[in-house]
Amino acid sequence: PNKKLLVLPGDGIGPEVMREAGRIVGWLSRRRGISFDISEDLVGGASIDVHGVPIRDEVIAQAREADAVLFGAVGGPKWAGVGFDVRPEVAILRLRQELGLFANLRPAIVLDPLIDSSTLKADIVRGLDIMIVRETVGGIYFGEPRGIEDMPDGGRRGVNTEIYTTFEIERVARVAFDLARKREGRVCSVEKSNVMESGLLWRQVVTELQAREYRDVQLSHMLADNCAMQLVRNPRQFDVIVTGNLFGDMLSDLSAMLTGSLGMLPSATLGTRDAQGRRPALYEPIHGSAPDIAGTGQANPLAQILSLAMLLRYSFSMDAEADLIERACTNVLASGLRTADIMSAGKAKVGTGVMGEAVLRE
Ligand code: NAI
Ligand code: MG
Repeated sequence: PNKKLLVLPGDGIGPEVMREAGRIVGWLSRRRGISFDISEDLVGGASIDVHGVPIRDEVIAQAREADAVLFGAVGGPKWAGVGFDVRPEVAILRLRQELGLFANLRPAIVLDPLIDSSTLKADIVRGLDIMIVRETVGGIYFGEPRGIEDMPDGGRRGVNTEIYTTFEIERVARVAFDLARKREGRVCSVEKSNVMESGLLWRQVVTELQAREYRDVQLSHMLADNCAMQLVRNPRQFDVIVTGNLFGDMLSDLSAMLTGSLGMLPSATLGTRDAQGRRPALYEPIHGSAPDIAGTGQANPLAQILSLAMLLRYSFSMDAEADLIERACTNVLASGLRTADIMSAGKAKVGTGVMGEAVLRE
């Protein structure tokens, strides 16, 4: 049966960059004979405008049915006043929660050292290819108790709790170890086991899992603050980094900026494989809906296109097609084409459509 693909473009530049990814999907079916069952729906502000909610239950159900979801971006000033529970961003939060998408994969790849202004940085990041695996449904963002409480002295206190169970640690560590097997075979596990019990358990569980099931993968451990420093000092020392929700949030944003632009970085969020071997998965650029440039045709479509490449690789095992797309992006950058966000001296400035067209031609 054909692979089921659910496409959710969303708001702002979401539909603009999704259009370019869609042209590549079209090419794959015309020229490579790969046909998908594609359905498309509204999410975010676009869904609020039509249906009054950021995502409909039918769309959640469709996402569960699909072999993979390709997501654009949601949000924008138009929906800023709608209330906390009906914000456009609830669409992505609900998808993550209801599909049990617990592992966020953020590659930081430098396709081309774009940084002309700082040769020092270019030297540090040239050829960079690391993968950060962040746990996304547990940890301090969700642990109970939480809240703002009154204290007897008349003051108040804000409370959050970091909890990680063996189950949660093992399942995200497995994702990292499996990925490492397809890469350089190295995993660095990151926590604060020097000051946090959850970090201590994290280190123990990852160590035991490696000894039991992943002896072929090289495991190292690093404290999160040192990892932040090492990512800036010498990021190429890493292959796969696995970490919890809070540290992963910060370290993945940090590593994003090593590569030059939000407009070039894809991501994947994976859930648990079922008995039939199907695994829920959502692919999206790390950037948002960029309301400041929406409608101007300037958005960089590469993050969305590379998200499609990740989808083909991780959900459909189409490594050859994923390689082809990634190579096309590298070649287009090498030819000197630049969208405004990655513009540098001596390069040709182009818009979304021309960039997408160039990748397609390549
Ligand atoms: P943003 O990522 O949308 O934009 C940050 C800056 O990067 C802007 O100057 C924007 O023009 C630029 N930028 C982003 N993507 C680009 C691209 N592909 N090409 C060229 N330039 C690009 O983040 P911001 O401004 O903080 O958020 C805007 C809206 O997006 C908010 O409503 C936010 O909640 C939402 N958002 C949604 C996400 C999602 O759908 N998963 C993720 C992050 C933010
Ligand atoms: Mg973040």
